[in-house]
Amino acid sequence: MLRCMHTFRDLAHLGPACSELRGRFGALALVPTMGALHSGHEALVRAAAVSGAGVVASIFVNPLQFGPNDDLAKYPRDEAGDLAKLEAWGCHALWMPDVVTMYPPGESTTVVVGGPAENWEGSARPGHFRGVATVCAKLFGQVRPDTAYFGQKDWQQLQVVQRMVADLLLSPKIVGIPTVREPDGLALSSRNRFLEPAQRAIAPRLFAILQSIALALVGGRSVPDVLAVAMRDLTAHGFAVDYLALVDGASLSQLQTVQPGARLIAAARLGSVRLLDNVAVTPIQAQGNGRQYRST
Ligand code: PAJ
Repeated sequence: MLRCMHTFRDLAHLGPACSELRGRFGALALVPTMGALHSGHEALVRAAAVSGAGVVASIFVNPLQFGPNDDLAKYPRDEAGDLAKLEAWGCHALWMPDVVTMYPPGESTTVVVGGPAENWEGSARPGHFRGVATVCAKLFGQVRPDTAYFGQKDWQQLQVVQRMVADLLLSPKIVGIPTVREPDGLALSSRNRFLEPAQRAIAPRLFAILQSIALALVGGRSVPDVLAVAMRDLTAHGFAVDYLALVDGASLSQLQTVQPGARLIAAARLGSVRLLDNVAVTPIQAQGNGRQYRST
């Protein structure tokens, strides 16, 4: 029986461990990650543990979701630190497959999601969501979880995974966890460590501007006008904006007016560091306090 957290590196041992955890807890939850764990990942693991399920986290830096301009070699790795964190957060088992396990010799099958995967990150990083969907489908097949936890921080990724699960009739229920932020509003990300001090000082402006756009839109201002002003504001602060858009939260299609479920999404670069963020645009958030904004 698994008492403290065990790390599994081959499928032959993972299967029995998952069965044992499912039997003991009545359900199994998966938290897929690429490691370099921080408090954003912690929120996912803790939510999975609080659900009462046996918790399996995975760490796999997935080469298929990195493009030629993304630096796979530079992706931060901290295996010892990650193991200690996962154990402290209540994780029961860690799945750390190698590349050959995930992509066997001769592999010829990938998962291509249309719809919500097509624009924004999909066009900025061609092939990225094919990599994400493929690895998530494989992880779901290996672990066979009842639930899988993803962060709202990567809003489009969450929608892509939801779409894939619905379309391929996969079994896990996908749970989206609100974005965890630094006290100044910057969304936690493994990329934040690459910000120079001056860039780090500017970075929280992205969330602040998204919040002020949300307020202005709920106040009835014109979407194109508000976005144009915000775009100038971001540029003036030193951001190179890849996109800033109001979209339908599930389909990621662009909206010209505020609709129920609308989401503001943005990707902006400070030097070589690309920051992603998003907020909901709903009346309750516009009237709410800082805590409600912090949790979106
Ligand atoms: P990674 O960047 O390690 O993120 C793992 C999970 O943590 C994702 O679901 C992400 O949305 C969530 N997360 C990251 N920062 C967060 C924050 N500040 N608040 C809340 N959740 C946060 O995303 C990936 O890995 C990969 O694409 C993966 C899904 C593992 C597939 O390879």
